[in-house]
Amino acid sequence: MAKIRVLIVGSRGMLGQELVNTFKKDGDYKVTGWDKEEIDITSQKQVEQKIKKLSPNIIINAVAYNAVDKCEEDKKEFELAKKINGLAPGYLARATKKVGAVFIHYSSDYVFDGSPDIPEPAGCAGRCLSCELHKDFTPEIGFDEEAKPNPISNYGKSKLLGEVAAQKAGGKNYIIRLSKLFGKPAKSNDAKKSFFDVILEVGRKNKEVKVVDEETSCFTYAPDLAKKTKEIIESRKLSGIYHIVNSDPCTWYEAVIELYKQTKIKTKIIPVDADEFPRPAKRPHISTLINTKLNPLRSYKAALKDYLKDLE
Ligand SMILES: NC(=O)c1ccc[n+]([C@@H]2O[C@H](COP(=O)([O-])OP(=O)(O)OC[C@H]3O[C@@H](n4cnc5c(N)ncnc54)[C@H](OP(=O)(O)O)[C@@H]3O)[C@@H](O)[C@H]2O)c1
Repeated sequence: MAKIRVLIVGSRGMLGQELVNTFKKDGDYKVTGWDKEEIDITSQKQVEQKIKKLSPNIIINAVAYNAVDKCEEDKKEFELAKKINGLAPGYLARATKKVGAVFIHYSSDYVFDGSPDIPEPAGCAGRCLSCELHKDFTPEIGFDEEAKPNPISNYGKSKLLGEVAAQKAGGKNYIIRLSKLFGKPAKSNDAKKSFFDVILEVGRKNKEVKVVDEETSCFTYAPDLAKKTKEIIESRKLSGIYHIVNSDPCTWYEAVIELYKQTKIKTKIIPVDADEFPRPAKRPHISTLINTKLNPLRSYKAALKDYLKDLE
């Protein structure tokens, strides 16, 4: 039987490399990985010509412009962010549709403003937060797939542009939102370390560390996301927006408590407000992505355990 041809763009990135690994493990697939050296996805001409020639069955876009603060301060960088995150997904989605393939694109919790609606228990008149009905009610606070995006940073705006462009192209396509990605550092030249790697190093070198006790959202382990992406495609889910993150939302501070507990690092962790480390781009205060469409992923704590084992 002919193999299913899958193309992964951004194949040397943190997520891209795990997508390549996941599909390569399955003999039903023939995997092609392209990164900056093979294609510039901001060139519509290149995208159309190269995809037409390869004619894959599935195209997964794991390319990213991730410099959240740089594109807030610098107009040229914002233009680049809009090209990579905003326009290119539209080129890829249109080229995908032309060859009759399935398109997968990734987006971010930063399309939201950080102030989710607080759900009320069924029957409550609303917004009271204190009536009898609230007694045994624990609201799930965050943004589901239908929540209205309202980005508060240029990076968030560029990601929202990409969602709209990909959806506008039509065809069979999935937009998968994730947050706080972690995993093996990308193989690309400009690879950034993920939060856990950075804070592990800091913990080993210092007696105490200050960590922001805000920005509640979910971590996403790259290998878990890659596997779930494959599952979505194979189960032929409806086109649309999906939220894939590991369970257990937390602040950065809470995550470091877990990291140091698992690695037995004794460094003192001091919780601080986000104002203590001012940055050019605003971050959402709460951007937990609520998944109402798929079986949930495991807790980030279990995923972190696997990640740390891999580092040994
Ligand atoms: N990282 C996070 O915490 C996070 C959070 C939410 C959402 N996401 C989303 O998750 C997805 C994957 O992100 P990631 O962190 O895995 O990205 P990544 O590690 O930065 O990898 C992106 C890859 O794309 C390549 N690339 C950049 N510009 C390109 C272009 N014009 N043409 C072709 N390739 C190009 C990069 O090469 P160079 O490195 O050489 O530029 C890199 O290899 C993205 O959609 C991102 O927005 C990430």
